[in-house]
Amino acid sequence: MEVVIRPDADDVGRTAAGIVQQSLADGVTTLGLATGSSVLAVYRDLIRRHRHEGLSFSGVDAFLLDEYIGLPTSSPQAFAQVIRRELTAHIDLDSERLHVPSGTALDPAAEARRFEQCLTEAGPVGLQLLGIGVNGHIGFNEPGSSLASRTRLKTLTEGTRRDNARFFGGIEDVPRHVITQGLATIGEADHLVLIATGPHKARAVSAAVEGPVTAACPASILQLHAHVTVVVDELAASQLRQRAYYRCIARHKPVGQRY
Ligand code: GLP
Repeated sequence: MEVVIRPDADDVGRTAAGIVQQSLADGVTTLGLATGSSVLAVYRDLIRRHRHEGLSFSGVDAFLLDEYIGLPTSSPQAFAQVIRRELTAHIDLDSERLHVPSGTALDPAAEARRFEQCLTEAGPVGLQLLGIGVNGHIGFNEPGSSLASRTRLKTLTEGTRRDNARFFGGIEDVPRHVITQGLATIGEADHLVLIATGPHKARAVSAAVEGPVTAACPASILQLHAHVTVVVDELAASQLRQRAYYRCIARHKPVGQRY
């Protein structure tokens, strides 16, 4: 695992966008996208690179991590809308190539299986962007999620509903159920890039990066993956015991060093 510590959220966004651009230049054609506030700075910088530096997403397939169950497709809070509004409407990604689990399917369990199958056929994802919940969730894999899980239905914790209430009228409007890629599904991507900013993420980042691998902190499964980059700002890094070492690696990393 490589831990990259940047001064602030904008710098985190630029760094992660640079990693995405490099991956596309290296031939990646399948991207994994996330929603939430932390990735917004990444998307802003990807849009800037598209407009001003010729970064192209043509021919790229994009898969979203998760979706609320029961919101109308046109709802501004539906992740299918969020990702269009924040990223894909502003770049040259073919709208037919944006894949999101449907939150309005009559049979959500069947929809989860369909999405997993679609990912398997198009995959592996070359680069997957991830945020992290304050309880250590990735996608919507809440604590207690099977480390071997695949795309499926999940019930949100009250804490996650409260955290996401800021995007809705209030907590009562936040759906209880979601479809999310599983932890094993996410782990099949070639490269995982986890973004975290702000002091409220410090505990989750430290548990994910330096704690035990446990379903109690779903993001800790990243420790078992061969290629993970964690990009955090100073505040989110503040509880990492080894942060001096991570900075030392960044200063002296020999060419070709793997993680
Ligand atoms: C939601 C998303 C996650 C995201 C998390 C953190 O729960 N399903 O993919 O990582 O929020 O969001 P934020 O970056 O807004 O803190």
